[in-house]
Amino acid sequence: MNEIAARPNNLDAFWMPYSANRAFKATPRMLARAEGMYYYTQDNHEIIDGTAGLWCCNAGHGRREITEAIQKQAAVMDFAPTFQLGHPIAFQAAAKVAEITPEGMDRIFFTNSGSEAADTALKIALAYHRARGESSRVRLIGRERGYHGVGFGGMSVGGIGTNRKQFGALLPYVDHLPHTHSLDRAFTRGQPDQGANLADALENLVALHGAETIAAVMVEPLAGSTGVLVPPKGYLNRLRALCDKYGILLIYDEVITGFGRIGTPFGAERLGVAPDIMTMAKGLTNAAVPMGAVACHEKVYDAIVTGSPAGIELFHGYTYSGHPLASAAAIAAIDLHRSDDLAGRAMAMEGYFEDGAHAMRGLPNVIDVRNMGLVAGIELQPRVGAPTDRAVRIFQRCFDNGVLVRTTGDIVALSPPLIIETKHIDRIFEVLGDAIRAEAA
Ligand SMILES: Cc1ncc(COP(=O)(O)O)c(C=O)c1O
Repeated sequence: MNEIAARPNNLDAFWMPYSANRAFKATPRMLARAEGMYYYTQDNHEIIDGTAGLWCCNAGHGRREITEAIQKQAAVMDFAPTFQLGHPIAFQAAAKVAEITPEGMDRIFFTNSGSEAADTALKIALAYHRARGESSRVRLIGRERGYHGVGFGGMSVGGIGTNRKQFGALLPYVDHLPHTHSLDRAFTRGQPDQGANLADALENLVALHGAETIAAVMVEPLAGSTGVLVPPKGYLNRLRALCDKYGILLIYDEVITGFGRIGTPFGAERLGVAPDIMTMAKGLTNAAVPMGAVACHEKVYDAIVTGSPAGIELFHGYTYSGHPLASAAAIAAIDLHRSDDLAGRAMAMEGYFEDGAHAMRGLPNVIDVRNMGLVAGIELQPRVGAPTDRAVRIFQRCFDNGVLVRTTGDIVALSPPLIIETKHIDRIFEVLGDAIRAEAA
């Protein structure tokens, strides 16, 4: 066993994020190394990665091209600021991102995470309207069950009660659209036919608040974190049309849907509706170095940058915006994304993966299966008086039997690396099906 996999003898100091610290520290699950489609525990137990880490290692683990690019850059220059100074690789990385973003979305602001990208996107939307003389547009519209990370902006615009209730008053001037999920449409493959009209709720918010107060609407094209909510056909088109009608910016949070996850480089392409601003992170560097980004349409950049008096145009940025190692990782990851045609692979495997997911229908307590690209959600009937218990136990059973799944509430979410093969898909659903059966009671 290598040194990195050595067992820690003190688990107290690390306050684990989004974790049941007490339960974990009583029975830890340690991942020690990773390669391709697999994680390995400290005991060298092989685990198929059914979640691409946390929806992020789209090209699989340990890709040599990315590792070498990081190593090389670390030896050339570890860090340099990007405030009033530049370094070539940050510009190269931005140009590389712009090569794969949708038409016109080619002004790239770097952050270090999806949360920072969400808050940056919201701030850019506010600055855009102000630069254009519409400073009354300060209201931000999110959607129930939306997840935009954990900064105050993303948390406020996000629509997950548990993520908000510990943290006080949050941002003012925020409102929410209804979410798009309904068990009336259970077991839909891909996009549901019904539900586009849910976008019309934006008309109600305009009537309530006045269009002149609304800066932006922010949604995930396909909501991942709250259990894989696939947008109804025509929903995003309606949202886009209403944003255009009322001069509101449309922001997509593509932190999960970016980099091939639903069969095209970004969700915007698969779903056929372009935003004005989009966030990304995770697959941007294949998660090898933390990095996020906001891609803006040129009109947004021009309004703020070209339209400002000389001097700093946007009072926003991070010490590590465009960090050299993250930039190196992003360039290598995007090159891999293209050379391996990861989006094309996701599209090609979608049908097989979909069949595997929908084969869970009919198993005890499975009340919905939904999917698109290489994402699937399997919703379970919660145990009476013990919500999440069934899903947590299924997660543990899968882990013990060599498959990593993710759960959110009583929904099992799958989002494997896009290099997945049919044999992995077979094994994931075999193990998951057994676990669902074992937790039937
Ligand atoms: C859609 C979306 N936005 C934002 C985030 C936050 O990203 P991070 O955890 O890198 O801050 C996530 C993370 O899962 C996400 O799924």
